[in-house]
Amino acid sequence: MQSRCCAGLLTAFLCCTNVGEVSAKEPVTGTHGMVVAQEPIAADVGLEILKNGGNAVDAAVAVGFALAVTHSSAGNLGGGGFMLVRLANGATTFLDFRECAPRKASRDMYLGPDGEPTRDSIFGWRSSGVPGSVSGFSAAHKKFGTKPWADLLAPAIKLARDGFVVSEPVAESLKSAEQLRQDPESKRIFLRDGDYYKPGDVLRQPELAETLDRIAQHGAREFYDGETAHRLAAAMTAHGGLITVDDLKAYKTIERKPLTGEYKGFQILTAPPPSAGGLGLLQIMGILTGTHYDSDGPNSTKAVHYEAEAMRRFYADRSEYMGDPDFYVVPVKPLLNPAYLAKRRSTIDPQHATPSDLVEPGLPKAMNAGITWYESTETTHYNVVDAHGNAVAVTYTLNNSYGNGITAPGLGFLLNDEMDDFVAKPGAPNMFGMVGGDANAIEPGKRPLSSMTPTIITKNGKLFMAVGAPGGSRITTGVTEVILDVIDFHMNPQSAVDLPRFHEQWKPDILYLQDGFPAATEDALKKMGYQVKPTEGVARVEAIVVKGHTLEGGTESRLHGKVAAY
Ligand code: DON
Repeated sequence: MQSRCCAGLLTAFLCCTNVGEVSAKEPVTGTHGMVVAQEPIAADVGLEILKNGGNAVDAAVAVGFALAVTHSSAGNLGGGGFMLVRLANGATTFLDFRECAPRKASRDMYLGPDGEPTRDSIFGWRSSGVPGSVSGFSAAHKKFGTKPWADLLAPAIKLARDGFVVSEPVAESLKSAEQLRQDPESKRIFLRDGDYYKPGDVLRQPELAETLDRIAQHGAREFYDGETAHRLAAAMTAHGGLITVDDLKAYKTIERKPLTGEYKGFQILTAPPPSAGGLGLLQIMGILTGTHYDSDGPNSTKAVHYEAEAMRRFYADRSEYMGDPDFYVVPVKPLLNPAYLAKRRSTIDPQHATPSDLVEPGLPKAMNAGITWYESTETTHYNVVDAHGNAVAVTYTLNNSYGNGITAPGLGFLLNDEMDDFVAKPGAPNMFGMVGGDANAIEPGKRPLSSMTPTIITKNGKLFMAVGAPGGSRITTGVTEVILDVIDFHMNPQSAVDLPRFHEQWKPDILYLQDGFPAATEDALKKMGYQVKPTEGVARVEAIVVKGHTLEGGTESRLHGKVAAY
């Protein structure tokens, strides 16, 4: 039996005991409002907004801007993401502020003279998609906000201008961020030209404060058509980047209908395309239905086997059918058709792993319209629930940790390398080992396929859960596992988040087991034919569960996040 709890983590205030391999850690609770985020200063910013009468969307916008200051590896102005909103009155929406390919982008833009993908989709000025975060937060505020826009940016501006005290994890993260060393502006701001920030030092970002201040004064159009836009576009031109003022002016947040489904009497609201995450969550749940996969308990051989096989089948479909729905007809209904999922389920051998080579994308043809994965803290997810029962789940990202490592000169924010989420060449794996084809090929204005899975769950019309995670291709599996742990294994959100997870993504044909995974299950899975590899983590999930009148929070212990509640 292994203790995964309080080993040097900032969770000493949460007592924990071990029940087998499952930590029975008590969740932090609240009765009025809760913010769960991966950086404590930003979580507290959101809580203050709630305490001062702001609603969950106000708080989510303020947290988003605060994370852009205090959590530079993922919080951002220069990236994009998704915001899922469910109001207490039952109204829902999904704001897609995912980056899009610039107009000068083209299908083969990342192929070298040998026809193979270069690393330009990850490093350098050409790796950035047109950023969406500022537009997304503005759209959310216009639609649902109750506090003045400038008030929601004020905490972030103060944190950038006056600085914040660097914590140990932030100091470590900055020091080890290789890509920040390559760009003079990033090196100056985040690495103090080699005199690295130590815990307790104050990190000030005056250029970022000015950018935020302009956005506070003039609104999102400052970012897309004002001084910020023109300076960003000029820097792009000077360094061979693609984004122009016209790209920025044309950028729009798209409001979409959340993808919906049902699982054992729970209503699931989740991310539609251009995320594959929601389809993954619903496909996996659909394939598991009726298997009694949960009869032997969480992380039992039976549970992991059925979940992994369902994941494998989803990732095969993902590679073929999923992309930006404005450019490619994603067969959402056929992919979620119970008869189709039953067919997929029937191909699972109860006793043996199915080799991925024998699993193909599964829809009838007529319906078809080498970099090793690593885990770091690139993307970030947070949830907010307010006293009225409004809920918001946001996942936003620069893609890689600190994006492409380039700070827009004089503007203080890092640029994304989201273009790597497109398919550079059919069959060639991206940074997360994801493969794909036409559905996710590069086209001007198109949004790259995502795994981000912000999800809100209700039961009998009442809020039950808000959840999501960073973790690249592992987001979908990590979020699905935590939901199943809560619904099927009756775990509280903190214990569910702490349970060691597993990940199977069809290709490569490997079952990744998070450190701390039960050894007996691992041995049994190997005997069933799984090729198993240890991994540090499978997504870093953040969750809020509503239990009666109490909000329970679960935050990733391997990060230094916070459940802020009152
Ligand atoms: O949208 C996606 O799926 C990726 N850009 C997310 C990247 C990510 O989660 C990296 N974080 N750990």
